[in-house]
Amino acid sequence: MQFDFDRHPDRRQVPGEKWGRYAGRDVLPLWVADMDFSAPPPVLEALRRRLDHGVFGYTDAPPSLAEAVVEGLRRDHDWHIQPEWLVWLPGVVTGFNLACRAVGEAGDSVFTATPVYPPFLTAPENSGRRLVSCALVERNGRWEWDRAAVEAAIEPRTRVFMLCNPHNPVGRAFDREELRWIADLAESRDLVVCSDEIHCGLVLDAARPHLPIAALDERIARRSITLMAPSKTWNIPALYCAFAVIPDAGLRRRYQREMRGIVPHVNVMGLVAAEAAYRHGGPWRAALLDYLRDNRERVLDAVATMPGLRTTRPEATYLAWIDCRDAGLDDPAAFFEAGGVGLSDGRAFGMPGFVRLNFGCSRATLDEALARMRRALTAR
Ligand SMILES: Cc1ncc(COP(=O)(O)O)c(C=O)c1O
Repeated sequence: MQFDFDRHPDRRQVPGEKWGRYAGRDVLPLWVADMDFSAPPPVLEALRRRLDHGVFGYTDAPPSLAEAVVEGLRRDHDWHIQPEWLVWLPGVVTGFNLACRAVGEAGDSVFTATPVYPPFLTAPENSGRRLVSCALVERNGRWEWDRAAVEAAIEPRTRVFMLCNPHNPVGRAFDREELRWIADLAESRDLVVCSDEIHCGLVLDAARPHLPIAALDERIARRSITLMAPSKTWNIPALYCAFAVIPDAGLRRRYQREMRGIVPHVNVMGLVAAEAAYRHGGPWRAALLDYLRDNRERVLDAVATMPGLRTTRPEATYLAWIDCRDAGLDDPAAFFEAGGVGLSDGRAFGMPGFVRLNFGCSRATLDEALARMRRALTAR
């Protein structure tokens, strides 16, 4: 089946964060993590059918959706879960904030490594927990764990290890050995691993399939909260449907207790879209990954020609994490914005001197944005 990712609706015709930020200005938005592409045809058809019904009463996730997710995780990630492990959520950010609340008590700490998706850095404090962190390190073009630094940062009162895998923004899909090390650390330090795997459907390298940490063995499964959603893979983030997979019944109960009276049902259209995506979104996802692989090469080739900039090869996601520290720029995001390209500022991710570029857009937009970045750097 053919999908045309070169053409997409003009996003400026509807309200939206990504293009709305620069309304009326000639700035190409390659910042917030959604893609410019229409949702997959089977998702749109399912939404139209549901819309035509015309009644939108309170709706729980139906058993057929749980079935579609269980089957999808088995098919795509060889992860075998039970339907009763699923907890439906309106978003993954809600999900990891709940994880901070559900484990330990006020004054305990939560570990995460930087750079990382910014809401990781504020979630602990939202729940009266302290954040403890250290930095990932880049070695030979690959971002890795500084294992000694992680082991030193985790303190006796650390109760949660917040993992982002595949990783936003560095694009790593962590391998079995790295995940084994984290699982062993969780066991020896008695931590719950909250693993945000929202980007699991976006692994670009066939040689590095996504491996959920909870799939390693039963011991780590018992101390895990895995967060997933169809939102990134099938580009339906504003439909707000996500889920936690919590195999341990006690941990699941504590988690659900924190939700009471606060966390709303998932929007019915989100439920419908999610089921269609997990059941019928495979061909579109395969075509998308081909398109993103080509976009990744364009980014790598272009950045290699930009004076003072370096990047690493993302194994997953549509995000490139670009090191601007040798370019002599005080504020790289502001510099590129003035040059007509809107990128995410590394400071928000806990790593100044970097920018994040979203290549989930048409080739025409991407090529023009990369040309603008190069022009801005060479025209100084
Ligand atoms: C790692 C990660 N987690 C969570 C989210 C957002 O999840 P949600 O919109 O479901 O709250 C994003 C969006 O960029 C993300 O990159």
